[in-house]
Amino acid sequence: MTPPRANSNAARDIAVALHPYTDLRTHLENGPFVVSRGEGCYVWDDSGKKYIDALAGLWCASLGFSNERLVQAAVKQMRTLPFYHSFAAKSHEPMIELAEMLIARAPVPMSKVFFANSGSEANDTAIKMVWYFNNALGRPNKKKLIGRIKGYHGITLASASLTGLAANHRSFDVPLAGFVHTMTPHYYHQGVEGESEEDFATRCADELEKLILAEGPDTVAAMWAEPVLGAGGVIVPPVGYYEKIQAVLKKYDILFVADEVICGFWRTGNYWGSQTMGLQPDILVCAKALSSSYLPISAVMVNERVFQALADESHKIGTFGTGFTYSGHPVPAAVAVETLKIYDETNIGEHVNQVGPYMQSELRRRFSGHELVGEVRGLGLIAAVELVADKATRKNFDPAQKIGARAAKLLEANGVIGRAMVNESLGFCPPLIVTEPEIDEILNGFEKMLNELALQLRRDKLTVVA
Ligand SMILES: Cc1ncc(COP(=O)(O)O)c(C=O)c1O
Repeated sequence: MTPPRANSNAARDIAVALHPYTDLRTHLENGPFVVSRGEGCYVWDDSGKKYIDALAGLWCASLGFSNERLVQAAVKQMRTLPFYHSFAAKSHEPMIELAEMLIARAPVPMSKVFFANSGSEANDTAIKMVWYFNNALGRPNKKKLIGRIKGYHGITLASASLTGLAANHRSFDVPLAGFVHTMTPHYYHQGVEGESEEDFATRCADELEKLILAEGPDTVAAMWAEPVLGAGGVIVPPVGYYEKIQAVLKKYDILFVADEVICGFWRTGNYWGSQTMGLQPDILVCAKALSSSYLPISAVMVNERVFQALADESHKIGTFGTGFTYSGHPVPAAVAVETLKIYDETNIGEHVNQVGPYMQSELRRRFSGHELVGEVRGLGLIAAVELVADKATRKNFDPAQKIGARAAKLLEANGVIGRAMVNESLGFCPPLIVTEPEIDEILNGFEKMLNELALQLRRDKLTVVA
């Protein structure tokens, strides 16, 4: 790397910015990727180079990077009421309207909506609600929470404890006590010789039941699940999995929380991932595409049973003592209302169900046979291509080789922004407005990257078996 010019954006960033999810030492040498502007599915860096964003930022900008209606909704609300809070029964119309819209669109009957600012905060709040719920019901020992290995629920102390990824735990002293993890429902890696997908789903449910019995069913409060695991590598659980999992949870009176932070709002081909995958959650968490991520906002929906317990306990104590200054902030709420209206008015779901299958079939047709590709997976407009060192044995690369980071950099050089997750799984989650030619553009850049990467790995003697 040539050192950044003095006073360039890169030099200024290196001097002062502490970046999330970044090797902080390497950053001092390599510097940032400075994004200057966006339009549709494209963004430009500060040298004027154009990129197509295969990941909509971070599974975020569902309506692309230049939706004028969202800008106008924010401006209008800024002029009318730029801030108010919702503590102590204060309210305002954007928050009321957004809550009504979410309840009307919920995948199962929901009763009330609580607002926060990020997916992590929403999950954190949902964890507190689960504990409060069991205190209200006089079950002070029923507090343990189950996440999944490779599940992702955020990075606050409690949500990071639910998350099942090593990078979010190591050296941060999490998971906290009382958080346990069950197996990843990933047939490609976890399925054993001769096991059908159905048998694998049964084994996942058996493992969950064993875990609950080992912990003591009276001590287990809730299980969290992303309908399709996102940051863990876009893992689609096998058919029958959720039916079997939910039967186990019901048997032991354990709440089920759907984390729809990525899957919500048509990403998987239905309004909710819960509908695509057959989840009937007691609590549902959403964020990101709720406002197309133009402003930060997240939501926790609770069903009537949960709400009644929260109401009883708060009445006993005198207040529901949790909430954020910006819970339901009127400007993000107004932008979210406009976002949901745009989804309805433009029939975005219909569009996703046209371009999604195209993206899925093209990904499989073009890349399944490639020497570096182990598995292509996904549904709707979310997918991953997992690179492997050995196709036959499904062996992943040694993480120390940093092949995923190298692939993402090469992809960028080819004009596509993507992201490598664990096990060199490269994610695809373009804005929902993406067109077929834009999908082709993403896949063309990906193909060039794959071929260049294969050459580099041979040159560096890192490929195990082609
Ligand atoms: C499923 C899921 N839950 C929670 C979060 C955390 O959201 P945030 O980064 O807004 O805190 C994410 C972020 O990617 C996510 O994918």
